[in-house]
Amino acid sequence: MSRIKIFDTTLRDGEQSPGVNLNKLEKLEIAKQLERLGVDRMEAGFPASSEGDFQAVKAIADTIKHTSVTALSRTVKSDIDIAWEALKGADEPCLHIFLATSPIHMTYKLRKTPDEVIATATEMVAYAKKKFPQIEWSAEDASRSDWSFLAQIVEKVIDAGATVINLPDTVGYTTPKEYGDMFKYIRENVPNIDQVTLSCHCHNDLGIAVANSIAAVENGATQIEGTINGIGERAGNAALEEIAVALNIRSDFYSFQTNLNLKEVKRTSDMVAKLTGMYIQANKAVVGRNAFAHESGIHQDGVLKHASTYEIITPELVGVNANTLFLGKHSGRHAFKEKVTELGIELSEDNINKAFAAFKQLTDHKKEVTDDDIFTIITEIQTNTASVDKYKLEMFQIQYGSNNIPTAAVELKTPAGKVVKTACTGNGSVEALYRTLEALTEEETKLIDYQINSVGGGKDALAESRVQLMVNGKTVNGRGAAQDVMEASVQAYLNAVNRYIIQQVNTDKQKVVKSH
Ligand code: KIV
Ligand code: ZN
Repeated sequence: MSRIKIFDTTLRDGEQSPGVNLNKLEKLEIAKQLERLGVDRMEAGFPASSEGDFQAVKAIADTIKHTSVTALSRTVKSDIDIAWEALKGADEPCLHIFLATSPIHMTYKLRKTPDEVIATATEMVAYAKKKFPQIEWSAEDASRSDWSFLAQIVEKVIDAGATVINLPDTVGYTTPKEYGDMFKYIRENVPNIDQVTLSCHCHNDLGIAVANSIAAVENGATQIEGTINGIGERAGNAALEEIAVALNIRSDFYSFQTNLNLKEVKRTSDMVAKLTGMYIQANKAVVGRNAFAHESGIHQDGVLKHASTYEIITPELVGVNANTLFLGKHSGRHAFKEKVTELGIELSEDNINKAFAAFKQLTDHKKEVTDDDIFTIITEIQTNTASVDKYKLEMFQIQYGSNNIPTAAVELKTPAGKVVKTACTGNGSVEALYRTLEALTEEETKLIDYQINSVGGGKDALAESRVQLMVNGKTVNGRGAAQDVMEASVQAYLNAVNRYIIQQVNTDKQKVVKSH
């Protein structure tokens, strides 16, 4: 079996999904989970793109110690310098630098000749090499590039110091055979290719990103790039969990393995869905809600007689149903702390106290608290940006029934510290609630999407709500978790407005930094 490296770009390419805007604390939590999952390298962001992203990449580079951290840069000196400032605290800092090589991109976007593209790429790789021990160079739109030109430029950037060569299918256009053949060609026609890791990076516009990635590996790629849940620009990127599980389940056919701890797959998928607000479809391979459900009588009968009749992946393999030890009302702080350690999470003493208090509150309503509940509680606490003044729920009350006009009353503390309250009616309870919140918040908001889900099973399960709002003309996602569905709905709405406020604060800070 040969080992294939996994390069995760959930926090960079994945974050480019429409409506997704992760803040520093959320990115840091996902980064820690990616480390637990065992990815070989994670792309933490694009530091030159914003002050917020710079700070997030820096926090990740300074925190993550068992996984290499990389960040994106254009082929310009200032991007490289900024990336170095963000990454220099990492154990193994790596720069990801890209330049397009396809005729379409060189002619219309870059307005450069092929020779100019080679000169820029080699010059900037050599410049970056003075700072970075590891450099990944990506030939953007490689799959629509001329192969002999690609071979030429790849050889030169390796000579200039690149340690990883990535050949992306940027627009999700290629097919498995074609993409595989391109890797074979590069392997056979670039004399120094054995000095580097050869990487593939596929987008999913035609729904074949996973198949294309596996074809690349069958033809000499030694690293796969992708995202958790396949999130990303347009139709997204190759879903890493699907690739890792496919290689594992079909190890009779493929002779490649990844280093991922598959038991962390479901939890990673849940966290990414929760924090990005991009919930996955029920029938999504490997991590969808129905991935292990058997509906037809014939299938159920077969699975009861022998699971292998219709089940090729066990839920346990990817950490589904891994809620081994239940905690309840009588569990003390010690048991709670042990559970947190067992989940592989490190918490400050302050956050342990907050998490334990939230856990105790939950046990007032819920008999058995599961690992997933604890994980949800901790994620909420760890990603709470306490330092920014925001809206805070003081109280809410809703009245509705079959012969009633739904009415909501809400009391909020505003970012300025004022307590405001009002009541509104609506056609349904959520409408009444959201109209009241709209009346109380100063920002202009429009609800685009609203979802409610349960965390785990049972009548007393935690509710998790997700909204997409247009706040002052900007699309923002919000989420909230609570025992009660209406409370989760209020929290999700306020979370979206608060995220908008945090983004504004960060943008203002950035303006201050730039003006100095
Ligand atoms: O898809 C792509 O080409 C990219 C590059 C920046 C590597 O994401
Ligand atoms: Zn990409």
